[in-house]
Amino acid sequence: ALERTLSIIKPDAVAKNVIGEIYTRFEKAGLKVVASKMKQLSKQEAEGFYAVHRERPFFAALVNFMISGPVMIQALEGDNAVTKNRDLMGATNPKEAAAGTIRADFADSIDANAVHGSDSLENAAIEIAYFFPATDVYAR
Ligand code: CMP
Repeated sequence: ALERTLSIIKPDAVAKNVIGEIYTRFEKAGLKVVASKMKQLSKQEAEGFYAVHRERPFFAALVNFMISGPVMIQALEGDNAVTKNRDLMGATNPKEAAAGTIRADFADSIDANAVHGSDSLENAAIEIAYFFPATDVYAR
């Protein structure tokens, strides 16, 4: 089914100058960028985005990492977009990520793991709305 998902290129991958290489992977997989912006997240924005992880031991480190530099945020649209994007990303821990995935190729650690992607269609809608008003998402 045609779906949308939220993707974030994290500060480590922005710093490595691989935004274009990651966008190329989306495009080659048939995912279209339907909204996009670069942003330096505030602590409050990062905490709100990752609120489901608030009680996890890695929460403070996660938030501090996500505000350590600008991120590139995009909504992706395509057939089966949620799962397709997660397949492109690879496992959360780059040590476990399959060869050829974004995290295997660009991530350094479970914290600095290059990209975020929505884990379900339900969360995708919530996460897209967190960063983009409906008028800033362009059906294509
Ligand atoms: P992300 O998909 O952005 O969602 C939450 C992030 O927390 C995750 O990627 C990792 O970068 C980070 N993280 C750090 N430690 C862990 C852990 N033990 N399990 C899951 N996520 C972790």
